Amino acid sequence: MNKKPYYITTPIYYPSAKLHIGHAYCTVATDVLARYKRLQGYEVMFLTGTDEHGQKIEKKAQEAGMTPKEFVDSIVEAPGGVKDLWKLMNISNTRFIRTTDDYHVQSIQKIFRKMYDNGDIYKGTYKGKYCTDCEAFWTETQLKDGKCPDCGRDVHDAEEEAYFFRLSKYADKIRELLTTTDFLEPKSRVNEMVKNFIDPGLEDLCVSRTSFTWGVPVDFDPKHVTYVWLDALFNYVTALGYQNDKYDDFDAFWPGVNIVGKEIVRFHSIIWPAFCMSVGIPIPKKVFGHGWLLLDGGKMSKSKGNVVDPYLLSEKFGVDALRFFLMRSFPFGSDGNFSNELLIQTINVDLANDLGNLVSRTTAMVDKYFGGALPENQTADPALDGELTAMASALRGKYEDAMEHFAPHKALEEVFAVVQRANKYIDENAPWALAKDMDANGARLAHVLYNLLEATRVCGILLTPFMPQTMEKLFAQIGADESVQTWDAAGQWGALPETVTVHRGDALFPRVDADAAIAELEEAAKAAKAGNGPVIETEPLADETVDFDTFCRSDFRAVKVLSCERVKKSEKLLKFTLDDGTGTPRQILSGIAKWYAPEDLAGKTLVAIVNLPPRKMMGQESQGMLISAVHTVDGEETLNLLMVDDKIPAGAKLC
Ligand code: MSP
Repeated sequence: MNKKPYYITTPIYYPSAKLHIGHAYCTVATDVLARYKRLQGYEVMFLTGTDEHGQKIEKKAQEAGMTPKEFVDSIVEAPGGVKDLWKLMNISNTRFIRTTDDYHVQSIQKIFRKMYDNGDIYKGTYKGKYCTDCEAFWTETQLKDGKCPDCGRDVHDAEEEAYFFRLSKYADKIRELLTTTDFLEPKSRVNEMVKNFIDPGLEDLCVSRTSFTWGVPVDFDPKHVTYVWLDALFNYVTALGYQNDKYDDFDAFWPGVNIVGKEIVRFHSIIWPAFCMSVGIPIPKKVFGHGWLLLDGGKMSKSKGNVVDPYLLSEKFGVDALRFFLMRSFPFGSDGNFSNELLIQTINVDLANDLGNLVSRTTAMVDKYFGGALPENQTADPALDGELTAMASALRGKYEDAMEHFAPHKALEEVFAVVQRANKYIDENAPWALAKDMDANGARLAHVLYNLLEATRVCGILLTPFMPQTMEKLFAQIGADESVQTWDAAGQWGALPETVTVHRGDALFPRVDADAAIAELEEAAKAAKAGNGPVIETEPLADETVDFDTFCRSDFRAVKVLSCERVKKSEKLLKFTLDDGTGTPRQILSGIAKWYAPEDLAGKTLVAIVNLPPRKMMGQESQGMLISAVHTVDGEETLNLLMVDDKIPAGAKLC
């Protein structure tokens, strides 16, 4: 390999549902960085993929009535799936890893054994709080209001025989890594990691599970499956051939740069380098934790169902406009609020107005005044040209500085400062006025137009990583051939031949009619929601077991509703008088007024637990509890009383 190697990765995404614009944001950003490095002449390895094991996927598959592998295949490989989305969005990844790929599974087994053999993995018992959705164990101190600090969901006590990784052993090294190097960026994330995770003391990490089977089995103790984060983090090196013969790129490309969202910085900046140290490979060159795209101020999430569809937006506005918007509008290290309005405004202002008009006005004038080709005879005017040429000449350096600091938004800011300066230059030089006297001003006019084409060319090169397809069209329109589209040429003012021939074409970025587009998007979102059906969620199953005797002591009975009424001054409570088969009516209060009108319940046969201690509610006694089924629909809690066949007599025991 003659070129210098460069390796960059996205997180591997959970294929638990279709990906949304938040995932596309991270992948587009990584793609832009990969394309930028390629433009600079590096041999770029760009990896993305899917993280396919774990309890969450197993559960989703079960709900869908599929095997886990069928389920993940349907999200990754099927038309409209993850791979299709990246193709549509023009993602230039050179490799795609699925953690269910055989070579990866086998590598993980070897890695686990290696860490066991070197004493960093040992067997113990895990007791802790577990969040099923995040596949993460938390200590009491890490919980936020008793809930998972990442997703805010309930956690539950979990205890199991498990293998542990000696993370504590690496605490000092990780602290030093975080506090004395640029390993983790942006810098603001370092403090958070040290304060929240290292200062309280790093505990050993549980790295195997026995409560489910969808994972990489520990080959020397197969009732254990490997913790999904150990399985996932090593993807960055198994995909290069670490511990397998499938690839042979590890020595050339590792260490690389891991781009991740802020919520998984903990895994990447603490656990991942410790894993690397344990198996004796270099730690990543850099972990960059980008911010979130928010919707209405909150995180988009597949389970909340408030997601924005990148397919729809690409189709409607074009892939390049969407890629550009994502990179232009949100500083990469911080959170940003997504909105359709902002998207359309960015397209109309930056792309249609500023860049699109610059190209169309300039090429139209070359056509109109010079028949499409500039003459050799041109006159510079340093006083008028100086600022534009200086800005365009300095642009590559500023852009490079921003890109090297993982600030694509800043790089675009620099490019658009030149685009705007070029538009101002048109007004300052008023080519239409010069054209009135071609004999006197023709040479000056030619040079004004040349400067505009040249500024456009430099901007076009630097915009290529962001909008690869449209920049090809731009180069064709301004007559810039491949030799002047290179990184070197971006630093050379005057690389475009003076006698260039332009080719006018369609508008690069048609203006969007904002009102019509927003109405259509809202319509499409509604239709998609209807098409997909509502998002239904149920509580994760309890991991904790209840012994049989305890269960048998709970007395569940069929009860018939003799009467039902609202409790005065309470919005929630209904008061039931029930026949429980004893001859003495039983009173139960239940907080279900939101879901049921009292008159609909008379005569129904319900289920109650009757040996709970009596409880006072709004000054009235409740002698038991009615049993209901609960779930959420589009995030809204929904409740159904358990109703059984009316031929079951009052008092029948449920067992
Ligand atoms: N499978 C793990 C990652 C393992 S990496 C070894 C995972 N997957 S995920 O599907 O939840 O995707 C997480 C990544 O998607 C985030 O880290 C982030 O890069 C991206 N995003 C998901 N939602 C996002 C937003 N709303 N905004 C920006 N990025 C978002 O975690």
